[in-house]
Amino acid sequence: MNGKVEWKPGNMLYPLPAVLVSSKSGDGRCDVCTVAWAGTVCTNPPMIGISLRPSRQTYDFISETGVFVVNVTTEEMTHAVDYCGVRSGKNENKFETAHLTAVPAAHVDCPMIGESPVSIECVVKEKLALGSHTLFIGEVVGVHVDETYVDDTGAFHFSDVKPIVYCHGEYRGIGKALGTFGYSVRKKKNKRENSDKRRDKKEDFSKRKDNSKSSDNKTGFHGKERKRVVDKSSVNGDNIIRRIGRTGRKGTESGSLRNRRSGRGEARRG
Ligand SMILES: Cc1cc2nc3c(=O)[nH]c(=O)nc-3n(C[C@H](O)[C@H](O)[C@H](O)COP(=O)(O)O)c2cc1C
Repeated sequence: MNGKVEWKPGNMLYPLPAVLVSSKSGDGRCDVCTVAWAGTVCTNPPMIGISLRPSRQTYDFISETGVFVVNVTTEEMTHAVDYCGVRSGKNENKFETAHLTAVPAAHVDCPMIGESPVSIECVVKEKLALGSHTLFIGEVVGVHVDETYVDDTGAFHFSDVKPIVYCHGEYRGIGKALGTFGYSVRKKKNKRENSDKRRDKKEDFSKRKDNSKSSDNKTGFHGKERKRVVDKSSVNGDNIIRRIGRTGRKGTESGSLRNRRSGRGEARRG
């Protein structure tokens, strides 16, 4: 009918974000776990839902403390993302084995991931057992972005982040932008002007980024020392962004990580 064949019932909603969820136990142990069953579920108050199987150590930690951090991942972090999704923190400290940097969060007692361009602190508001998975709905109490992607006007350049998604068993980049919010109804006479403005702004930012890289390589995107910038605003307002800097690590694809990934892990998804 209509050129569509009925498919077996199940999860076909892809792509999904492949995020790293960091957590801490009541007795102070830290864990990091890959989660694709994740998404924004409310704008005001800002809320994120993540679904976890009760067998995950992350499930235990979040149940104990009621807090977690959602860390957006990048193409550079793909190996770590896979690794943290096939090894349990019950047997190892994945911050160490996946070469991720634990950075203290500001509003909850839980680590953020230094390598992540965006880390979102959450406090659990609801815990719903759905079946195989339990949905934790967390209210966002703090957001941290890597200052590398913030320009002088305070704009955050997500297009430079190169985030990854999880799609039918594969990790993928997100490709080029195809439009902007509301472009389908935007008045035609403004269209050209708006796109020119956007292009100029982007070019300007890229130029500044390149200049800063060539003038001082150590402060560019790669290999720069961690720099933390003080909280810019309150968590009660719309803008709850605090900036964190890069951590001096060039990606997470270390030799030891690659070796560990060499097929011994049982790939459990979702
Ligand atoms: C791409 C990917 C996505 C995943 N998504 C989820 C998920 O949404 N929920 C979940 O419970 N497990 C998910 N997993 C599996 C966990 O990440 C995995 O079992 C991990 O080892 C649990 O770690 P922990 O025991 O340290 O918490 C996913 C794994 C991969 C590779």
